[in-house]
Amino acid sequence: MTSPFLDSNVPGNPAYHFETVAPGTLSRVGWGERPGLLGATDLATQCVHAGSQPDAAYGSVVAPLYQTSTFAFTDLGTNGGFDYTRSGNPTRARLEEAIALLEGGAGATCTSTGMSAVLVALNLLPQGSRVLSTVDCYGGTYRTLEHARNTYGLQVDYLDLADLDALAKAWREDTRMVWVETPSNPLLRLTDIQAVAAFAHARGALVVVDNTFLSPIQQRPFELGADVVVHSTTKYLNGHSDVVGGAVVAAPGQDALAQRLAALNNLLGTSQAPHDTWLILRGLKTLKLRMEAHERNAQAVAEHLAQHPAVAKVNYPGLPSHPQHDLARRQQKGFGAMISFELKNPANVETVLRRLRWFALAESLGGIESLVAHPASMTHASMTPEARQRAGHFRWPHPALGWHRRAGRSHQRPQPGLGLILHRSHPCPVPIASITPTNSLDKPQWCASIASCPRVVPPSI
Ligand SMILES: Cc1ncc(COP(=O)(O)O)c(C=O)c1O
Repeated sequence: MTSPFLDSNVPGNPAYHFETVAPGTLSRVGWGERPGLLGATDLATQCVHAGSQPDAAYGSVVAPLYQTSTFAFTDLGTNGGFDYTRSGNPTRARLEEAIALLEGGAGATCTSTGMSAVLVALNLLPQGSRVLSTVDCYGGTYRTLEHARNTYGLQVDYLDLADLDALAKAWREDTRMVWVETPSNPLLRLTDIQAVAAFAHARGALVVVDNTFLSPIQQRPFELGADVVVHSTTKYLNGHSDVVGGAVVAAPGQDALAQRLAALNNLLGTSQAPHDTWLILRGLKTLKLRMEAHERNAQAVAEHLAQHPAVAKVNYPGLPSHPQHDLARRQQKGFGAMISFELKNPANVETVLRRLRWFALAESLGGIESLVAHPASMTHASMTPEARQRAGHFRWPHPALGWHRRAGRSHQRPQPGLGLILHRSHPCPVPIASITPTNSLDKPQWCASIASCPRVVPPSI
């Protein structure tokens, strides 16, 4: 009688009926050719397969997680291609390969946060450099630029990069980099990447584009002349609000630049932990589907807000009323899912916050939840009143401004007229929207990033 324990499906069992090959030899079945084929496929296919070829050891179809700080050498001076996780890790290498492929770049390096990606890119600059930056850039980017100014003597000028005359006027001999955030956070202003790149390249400067708000699905900075693309992968690339991370990508053909960025990431100690990169690899697979749904919902919410009697102004590049709608059509592959808007009555801001049903008051965007935030006290709190005024956020100070203390720190309390960030969610498996209201004391503005739930219920305000 046959033993019930002779099981032909259990590896290691004497009855196991498959012929096995030694770990590391799986490429003989042709899987090794996949990375080469990927470049020719569309973005949806790339999202699913980039960095996800079956692993050479055991053929797992999901990238293996190498949760290790270090790697054994096989002999003195010989190893399997990795020696220490700060410098390189096979799981992180897969994410880097995937992001480089999706952006169409020469190579990417993945960092612990979006801000460390910003830091790595800024470290390309030689001593005595000047940066020209989008005036209403993300508050953390502004904080880092100001830190570099105060600590290392970096020269920084902020300007509306849509204004090419202003760019020409601000240009100096020592200008080495233009920092472009388009659409900007939180005012959704656009920069013509191609025009800025042509101007900067003629003068030997680098153009860095923070592509966080649109992802490679909806904006292709390298096709428009950017040299470096930066991401907070915390946002759309991961898309599930469970990881912080960043990426810096070098333009196609710029292999030396890609190597420099990876070396800077190692030097600064900003590289991303293996488990976080593994989660982002998982998030990437649905990026295209999520971005399409985000955008559909954002358009619906923006149109709803635009005709709402309580709303004074809606900033969304997908609306024909957006002053740079034509540029958005020309430059972007989609309109994104961040919206900002202003209420007619500043006194309604707190009421709107309270009446939102599917929005948590929280920072961030690009995940599956709907969030609302208050930029002045949250995402853009590090900007000085002058910087916020220059960026067009709001007037400051304001007599109605109130403060309260929590955990020993001063917090600016949302007051009537202050802007908010709102991320709209929905009780369904895939999210709908994130709305991010911006700050205005006299004109409350809101900014929203729309999640990807198939149904949209316009915000009740
Ligand atoms: C446009 C942009 N760039 C960079 C960052 C920084 O990313 P992280 O929060 O992952 O450090 C953010 C964060 O909100 C952002 O909105």
